[in-house]
Amino acid sequence: MADETDKPWGGRFREPTDAFVETFTASVNFDRRFYDADIEGSQAHARMLRRIGVLNDTELHAILEGLEQIRAEIDAGTFPWSVALEDVHMNIEARLIERIGEAGKKLHTGRSRNDQVATDLRLYLRREIDAVCGELRRLQRVLLDLAEREAGTIMPGFTHLQVAQPVTFGHHMMAWFEMLERDHERLQDCRRRVNVCPLGSAALAGTVYPLDREYTARLLGFERPTRNSLDAVSDRDFAIEFAAAAALTMMHLSRFAEELVLWTSAQFDFVRLPDRFCTGSSIMPQKKNPDVPELVRGKSGRVYGNLMALLTLMKSQPLAYNKDNQEDKEPLFDSIDTLRAALRAFADMLPAMELNRERLYAAAAEGFSTATDLADYLVRKGVPFRDAHEIVGRAVALAERTGRRLDELRLDELRALSECIEEDVRQVLTLEGSVAARDLLGGTAPRQVRRQVAEARRRIEQGS
Ligand code: ARG
Repeated sequence: MADETDKPWGGRFREPTDAFVETFTASVNFDRRFYDADIEGSQAHARMLRRIGVLNDTELHAILEGLEQIRAEIDAGTFPWSVALEDVHMNIEARLIERIGEAGKKLHTGRSRNDQVATDLRLYLRREIDAVCGELRRLQRVLLDLAEREAGTIMPGFTHLQVAQPVTFGHHMMAWFEMLERDHERLQDCRRRVNVCPLGSAALAGTVYPLDREYTARLLGFERPTRNSLDAVSDRDFAIEFAAAAALTMMHLSRFAEELVLWTSAQFDFVRLPDRFCTGSSIMPQKKNPDVPELVRGKSGRVYGNLMALLTLMKSQPLAYNKDNQEDKEPLFDSIDTLRAALRAFADMLPAMELNRERLYAAAAEGFSTATDLADYLVRKGVPFRDAHEIVGRAVALAERTGRRLDELRLDELRALSECIEEDVRQVLTLEGSVAARDLLGGTAPRQVRRQVAEARRRIEQGS
């Protein structure tokens, strides 16, 4: 370019860009990440331009070939990225012109970087959503395997972090599974709104060329073209939706992480993480710290922050495109990277987790966890629930006072509280009896857990 600025847009400028402003406004250092989407979008745009007669066959061929060579250069790390050329779009276009000459100058017909970047971002995010969903599914399968293996393993269930009732380890794993199932659904739903094609919106008003927008959308695997050019170049809802879905999933992973941190402590001693997922202390030789879950818990913070950043970025922006939008990329990329890493960490770590089944069982027996079972027993014998609650409360007080568990109370002691209690109460007060009795949809009984696992397997194997 022979103007003062050496920029593709330099025609009307009379002095070069300030050196600081050039780096301040450039995005190439981060938006080059989606060069693949940029090339794919340009190739589809070029094919469409051929179809409507803007390009001839020779020109189309030169453009497609040139873009392929550029892709190879970037893959090989030999592409001459230039901050002076601002962003990934102008870097690739300038290189194309350098390589193929005149034909390259026609590629940007009927297109603006505004619809181009919106298209690139959608193509890129669509691929990343599919990858995240793959990671989610992998972790879900790990949980299904664990749930199946530990369907009959008894552990304490908590409310208020106080022992509440015995549950099965498999049931607990399936609770995690369900959270991830909603996360998967949310991402699939988000994907539908990502998957529309802004190309043809041009800068903001559409374009004078009779672009075949349906054709371009189809070539790129989009569901349909967008319906309003002003909205299409400025809309970043799809990125915010993804960031929100990512924040929610990180919240779930942070909750798992918190449980693992508790469970691996000496006070709980429920599970052990393999050494290769832990680190030590530089001063305390005895320490083995659950760093991986702690980091996942900690990283949820930045993913929430990215969501807030994107929401704040978009608020108060008048239509249509504003340069503010260039700030959408780094938070989005960070959420993608952090989420994928956290999912991977869990999927790699959980199969190697060891259970301390004796300790889980003993902990479930503490805290009078079968008290509700005793109350339900009395109800079956005809005692109104409120009276049963009162009677069991007295039994708990007696056990506590004498330092025993509920199942260690003698029959005559129990009968002093209620005549309705008979020898058959023994089975009711066992942990096995307690969990097996909760044999209804969603309950903790081993039979239910195995059924849920089988159904979930069927669902995810045919669903996606
Ligand atoms: N690098 C820009 C972005 O990320 C591309 C669009 C620029 N458009 C413009 N008119 N300056 O948003």
